[in-house]
Amino acid sequence: MGFRTIEELCADLEAKRRSSLAGGGEEAVSKQKSKGKGTARERIAALLDPGSFVELDEFVTHRCNNFGLEERKIPGDGVVTGWGTIEGRKVFIYSQDFTVFGGSLGEKHADKICKVIDMAMQNGCPVIGINDSGGARIQEGTDALNGYGKIFRRNTLASGVIPQFSVIMGPTAGGAVYSPALTDYIFMVDKESVMHITGPEVIRAVTGESVTSEELGGAATHNTITGDAHFCAKDEAECFSQIRKVLSYLPLNNLDEAPLKATNDDPQRADIELRGIVPVNPNKGYDVHEVIRRVVDDGEFVEVQAGFAKNIVTGYAHIGNRPVGIVANNADVMAGCLDINASDKASRFVRHCDAFNIPIVTFVDVPGYLPGKEQEYGGIIRKGAKLLYAYSEASVPLITVIMRKAYGGAYLAMSSKSLGADAVFAWPQAEIAVMGAEGAASIVFKKEIEGDSDPSAKRLEKIDAYREEFANPYRAAERGYVDRVIMPEETRMVVCQALDAMESKREERPAKKHGVIPH
Ligand code: HXC
Repeated sequence: MGFRTIEELCADLEAKRRSSLAGGGEEAVSKQKSKGKGTARERIAALLDPGSFVELDEFVTHRCNNFGLEERKIPGDGVVTGWGTIEGRKVFIYSQDFTVFGGSLGEKHADKICKVIDMAMQNGCPVIGINDSGGARIQEGTDALNGYGKIFRRNTLASGVIPQFSVIMGPTAGGAVYSPALTDYIFMVDKESVMHITGPEVIRAVTGESVTSEELGGAATHNTITGDAHFCAKDEAECFSQIRKVLSYLPLNNLDEAPLKATNDDPQRADIELRGIVPVNPNKGYDVHEVIRRVVDDGEFVEVQAGFAKNIVTGYAHIGNRPVGIVANNADVMAGCLDINASDKASRFVRHCDAFNIPIVTFVDVPGYLPGKEQEYGGIIRKGAKLLYAYSEASVPLITVIMRKAYGGAYLAMSSKSLGADAVFAWPQAEIAVMGAEGAASIVFKKEIEGDSDPSAKRLEKIDAYREEFANPYRAAERGYVDRVIMPEETRMVVCQALDAMESKREERPAKKHGVIPH
């Protein structure tokens, strides 16, 4: 009995590596492929820069002795972890391997995920998690639950420090959905991703409702109805390119600068067409995406939550080379009014931009909050307050362009001067007032209208008078609530100038542990 040769030892290592690379074996891999899904490693390779992935912990196995699991140890334990680069920038990553115990999460599987989140935090780099899992590994019992808890805590502590993306590429059931929900953005693939707390069978047993898995928690559902997801792709390849794109607007961490993007788009470029896009008649709709595209560099806009709460538009662009977050009321949907979902969507986006030092440009055309019992019972008070809170709390440069309507509380909520906007610009057709001319005239001149021999004619006359007097940007400009009234075509130029001027903005805030945001 002597020492083995180095060749023998290396061959042994080779064999061990092959065993880890094989995952759950050929049969399980071909089942995965037959569903049109990539394997855990293929997905990493497709997302990261070619050849950049460095794997960790490939020999980790579980230590569970329940239900015969001790006989089944697969190196890697159902999750592939490590680091690599995207556009040359370092990211940490984990990718669950459904071919190994259905990607289920046990103690050591969770430890591997925690390790990469810890490394991402220590090195100030984004972490991306590709989820494809049957949830808590049932055989591991409370060890599996404890593993989830440790991940949730790390997601929470990393929030606002490093960007965290969750990619759903298979099932995510039960409490397993909460790690994605704690991260910044959830990316889903149409007809492939599913997220729900309780599945269709449990729902049928408990409530009698009948629903398919796809209807309940598919990508379409979460990108349009619940708002739990932020991006929807037609396939895995499109999903990966969305992730790469979004990452290009973000810094690696909260102390880092977001990358600039070179452009030949002239910061002084005047777009005269903007005069015609927003109709002067406040009752007419238009697509605010058209305004955004004409103002930003090269017309490039990456929308976040494009399918949810379409009455408000959120997303990233560059203006004068700098990445910015855009928030815009969309008059084409519900006249652009604010409701519960729009408030939720916009406030979270504002907080995300603020956390990562991305200036926010807000385009305003808002008639107010959506009236109705459903909204009041649903908590529009606290949801509306959340938007006020998010803008008030934001210390990044805030630039506001009031294009048309800006009424009442909704005017205040949309990045108004009083909430801390650094530069507020208004177009000549802007109407900044407590409410619209029709409502205001009917209240203020009620007695005169009712006492007149022709109340309808009197009402119209008073509406016109009110509109002439108050439905304009100049009352607000007289007080300094608007910094400048500008021609629509000057928008790109003045926003660029403001971004330049605010570049070194610093704001002191009172020291506190944290605020208590309305939810
Ligand atoms: C252990 C699991 C597993 C799990 C799947 N597998 N889920 N093993 N724990 N949670 C195993 C299966 O036994 C099977 O092993 C292999 O993975 C593939 O699973 P299939 O069922 O053959 O695949 P498919 O038909 O595609 O169905 C996928 C699935 C289904 C829909 C995910 O497996 C499923 O319903 N699993 C259970 C989901 C669940 O209830 N999880 C617990 C949720 S509660 P073999 O050896 O046969 O190949 C939870 C609490 C978390 O997660 C709380 C955190 C706070």
